[in-house]
Amino acid sequence: MLAPHMAIFTAISRLTDYYRRHGLGATIRRTVLATRRALFSSRAVLFYCDLTRQTSAPTDLPKSIKVERKRSFADIDPQDLHQIISVWNPRLAQRNMEGRFGKGASLWLIKFEDRLAGYGWTLQGRTIAPYYFPLAEDDVQFFDFHVFLKYRGRAIDWFLMTHALQELATAGAARAFAEAAEWNQASLSSIAATPFRRLGWARHVTILGCTSIYWSWNSAVEENQNRLKKQPLATSRGKSSDVPG
Ligand SMILES: CC(C)(COP(=O)(O)OP(=O)(O)OC[C@H]1O[C@@H](n2cnc3c(N)ncnc32)[C@H](O)[C@@H]1OP(=O)(O)O)[C@@H](O)C(=O)NCCC(=O)NCCS
Repeated sequence: MLAPHMAIFTAISRLTDYYRRHGLGATIRRTVLATRRALFSSRAVLFYCDLTRQTSAPTDLPKSIKVERKRSFADIDPQDLHQIISVWNPRLAQRNMEGRFGKGASLWLIKFEDRLAGYGWTLQGRTIAPYYFPLAEDDVQFFDFHVFLKYRGRAIDWFLMTHALQELATAGAARAFAEAAEWNQASLSSIAATPFRRLGWARHVTILGCTSIYWSWNSAVEENQNRLKKQPLATSRGKSSDVPG
């Protein structure tokens, strides 16, 4: 976890970098948006996937799509690395990546027609930062998934997450967890289409290095259970869109 002074340093560094790239007007708009989100929609929607129940055979990716799993910097093509760290402050992004690989995280790259279209991270047995609950040895956290602008809206995120879930299930992982900010409709919609299921809403607040977790009323599970009771078994199985969205 970042010490308080490091967190402040990181926030300032991100802001100055954003200002340098996009100018004053965009930086003010971005700051207002971030403040509104922090005040009015700061909850995370948590998702889980029971990998032991993912019994279907891994689906083949279309020929134009390839997924690669990287476990260290040395594995990554320099051009891909440059593209990834250029999403925001390259210096901080590279330092973050070092920390993640150092903890044993994997970086998953998805390529469309041999060009990098997106990436995402997974970490098994622990979480990258203070989390809502501890993970067990065979649990995996999914975090920081990103699809480059040009490739959005083509289910690239879905291919990447689904492929990573299948590969991790085959390797013996037990449960996977993912989260999305409640305001992030693109991410929520993309995760809901995968085998991930909604677990609930939560918020974490870190003050002076101490993290507090607040769980919201878990109405999604209750609504889903009520719905399942009303439905015949055959129609209550299957599509992820059955999860209230
Ligand atoms: C969230 C994200 C990974 C989704 O990736 P994706 O491959 O575009 O996902 P999908 O193709 O499944 O699209 C998801 C939703 O975004 C919408 N969308 C977002 N940007 C779009 C674009 N440029 N063109 C078309 N649709 C877009 C899609 O219509 C879809 O909504 P729908 O299911 O209601 O139709 C991507 O938007 C992204 O990288 N966002 C920035 C980083 C981020 O927020 N990451 C998640 C938190 S860690």
